[in-house]
Amino acid sequence: MVHTKDHGSVRAEVADLFRSALNTAYPNAGIEPVVAACNNAKNGDYQCNNAMALFGKLKGTENAPKAPRDVANAILAALPANDLISETSLAGPGFINIRLNKDALARRVGSMLTDGLAKFAPEGHAGKKVVIDFSSPNVAKEMHVGHLRSTIIGDTLCRVFEYCGSDVLRLNHVGDWGTQFGMLIEHMADTRKARVAAGGEDADKDEDVADLQELYRAAKKRFDEEEEFKTRAREAVTRLQSGDATSLASWQRICAASRREFEALYTRLGVTLQERGESFYNPMLKGIVDGLKETGVATIDDGATCVFVEGQSVPLIVQKSDGGFGYASTDMAALHHRLNEEKADWIIYVTDVGQSQHFELVFGAAKKAGWLKEAAGPKVSHVGFGLVLGEDGKRFRTRSGDLVRLVELLDEAKSRCAATIRERRQEAGEEIVEAEVEEAACAMGYGAVKYADLKNHRTTNYKFSFDDMLNLKGNTAVYLLYAHARIAGIVRKGGKDVYALAASTPVTLEHPKELELALHLTKLPEALEDAIEELAPNRITDYLYDLSEKFNSFYVDCKVLGSEQEASRLLLVEATAVVMRKCFELLGIKPLYRI
Ligand code: ARG
Repeated sequence: MVHTKDHGSVRAEVADLFRSALNTAYPNAGIEPVVAACNNAKNGDYQCNNAMALFGKLKGTENAPKAPRDVANAILAALPANDLISETSLAGPGFINIRLNKDALARRVGSMLTDGLAKFAPEGHAGKKVVIDFSSPNVAKEMHVGHLRSTIIGDTLCRVFEYCGSDVLRLNHVGDWGTQFGMLIEHMADTRKARVAAGGEDADKDEDVADLQELYRAAKKRFDEEEEFKTRAREAVTRLQSGDATSLASWQRICAASRREFEALYTRLGVTLQERGESFYNPMLKGIVDGLKETGVATIDDGATCVFVEGQSVPLIVQKSDGGFGYASTDMAALHHRLNEEKADWIIYVTDVGQSQHFELVFGAAKKAGWLKEAAGPKVSHVGFGLVLGEDGKRFRTRSGDLVRLVELLDEAKSRCAATIRERRQEAGEEIVEAEVEEAACAMGYGAVKYADLKNHRTTNYKFSFDDMLNLKGNTAVYLLYAHARIAGIVRKGGKDVYALAASTPVTLEHPKELELALHLTKLPEALEDAIEELAPNRITDYLYDLSEKFNSFYVDCKVLGSEQEASRLLLVEATAVVMRKCFELLGIKPLYRI
């Protein structure tokens, strides 16, 4: 008899049982179990789909089975006795339907409370070094909604790996180096000169870098229009790159001002990041490119140093014909550093899909250079995402046509939420405590912006609409936060220490709605396994929304407080609340207990 665990992924456990069955029935087939949740609960909870493919594989061999159903029967005959599966049946050409043992499910739900959710994280990632390169705005340039998406998606991926026990390095690959600094530095110098000429102070002023967008705009205008300024800007770049102290000081002031702006946004969003901008890799660029040249991985083409990657229409340019290094050179150095210094097991880059080809080239070049092996060794992934659109279906902009300022966006979401909360409290005749309203409005407003982004498959373009994301009904953070508060309210009203209860009382599952809810609760690890497999946070939002629906349906049919099953049902309610909170945590949303 195989005793299965009371935690972790049920799907993985079922797969293990079938792996053992496959090995016994077909020892030489070398085939992995294919186990999935059933789409239709009537058929079963899970299904094993190996029989058909295995039948095809065995065709023509000695003693080949006559039909896929024979294969399925042979697998079933070899299935070890266990305490997880209560029933199996054959369907169609050879699907094996699986019904789980109620007590096993009940034990798992109980252990969510008694042992906690740490044991329900996907396995296989603990201790692994995962580098996630996300957010990564550019200094003195606008931080736009694309960077907001990268920040939100990247943060959730970090949180998922952190939950799994990985050693996560959250890297902000800030665009803090490049030719734009020449014109910025020159323009700042001119401003200072003009100030001195007008009798002002001969010193750097904070106001010069207070509005970086304005600084960028003004400098860019002159760069495009004044030939003499353009020349000076170019010379300034060279001076900066050669380490001139005055230029470096100006550059640092610009970066520091930019950093303050970024930090303000990260603080609001509750996102932490380690800044390691492009400039960090500067000293490594020459060595990396020389290495690629010496080994013949890079070749000179039309004066530029290129890596040609099989299957790609354009090369990766690692050094321009004028000898300058660019975005691609830096990414090669960064990848090398992350592999060799950081010893990363998995490196993940979160940017818009527009950069897909860039990353294919970088990864391709790294393989060509032998830094990455096809099968074994560290993994690299590009997590591409689509555009944020305005209500008009075009790229998201404000009425004036400018890109939207992110902080203003968060302000609006928050103030709209604050208004709704005040209104509700007023209607309910409740006291309005401003500090509470503020806290709830932040949780809801910022949560709504994050959730609206994460719930779409990342590659789709989505419309940014306050009305949609703040809807009290439907698949929104606001709805889910209310749902959670209501669930927490049920437990509160029960007036019992549910954890003491969980330690003394088993969960019992009799009503079909109890079973359905319990089954969904235990699927948390699977939802996260899928989220990791596809690097797709919407797997988590889908799971969370389904959970709230399953709960509603349970609550309609199953009385909790004052019922005969009160104790066990309270445990189900608390487990729902706990799992919802885990999802909120992974999505970077603060749960609310009362609204
Ligand atoms: N700064 C870049 C941009 O705004 C994103 C950087 C992404 N990371 C990287 N290693 N290339 O488009």
